[in-house]
Amino acid sequence: MLENVTVVDHPLVAHKITMLRDASTDSASFRSLCQEVTLLTAYEALRHLPTELVPVRTPVAETQSPMLSGLAPAVVGILRAGLVMVEAILTLLPHGRVGHLGLYRDPETHKAIQYYKKLPDQIDQREVLLVDPMLATGGSAVQALDILKAEGATDVRMLAIIGCPEGIAALHHRHPEVHITLAALDDRLNEQAYIVPGLGDAGDRIYGTK
Ligand code: PRP
Ligand code: URA
Repeated sequence: MLENVTVVDHPLVAHKITMLRDASTDSASFRSLCQEVTLLTAYEALRHLPTELVPVRTPVAETQSPMLSGLAPAVVGILRAGLVMVEAILTLLPHGRVGHLGLYRDPETHKAIQYYKKLPDQIDQREVLLVDPMLATGGSAVQALDILKAEGATDVRMLAIIGCPEGIAALHHRHPEVHITLAALDDRLNEQAYIVPGLGDAGDRIYGTK
């Protein structure tokens, strides 16, 4: 069992991951499946959100019942592929604030290169959920966390659809306190730094590019 990592164990998630892996799944289905898996796994990734009791009048009685407390959480997507996950999480957290970090992997070095940053205000006082479907070498996630911490974020968790041991090790080497929630933990990286068995290039499959 890996420390600070949750791999969601649920037959619905496993079923949808298999459909995502299938190379014959088209872009429209792939996008929907990414969103469905995000919804199912966000349930785990957001389990820690703080609540407070508030008074509420039901049709039957007055009672005290929990609601989310504090500033609205921030959902930060790593472009491009993280965008579909952000949209899914906003259906659960409509009051969430959204941040975007533009990062792409250099095809030769596989190192993450930043090209965009836009984050919600008061990020230092918000619960932050960083989302990206793939945690491969971990380079993109590590750089995203470096940026978030430089902006003052202190409470950041990561939600990815597929991870691998190399990506988890890289992320936790630099940011050991960051909890990672995954829908699947795969075997390894190949020579091109793709996750095996994985699902290929998430951004290209979501947007139909190559
Ligand atoms: C993919 C994926 C992650 C990154 C993971 O993005 O969405 O951001 O690779 O790889 P890493 O863990 O080795 O950094 P990509 O760089 O292909 O950009 P894209 O989403 O714009 O296609
Ligand atoms: N990025 C992807 O989209 N897929 C991988 O397998 C690795 C990095």
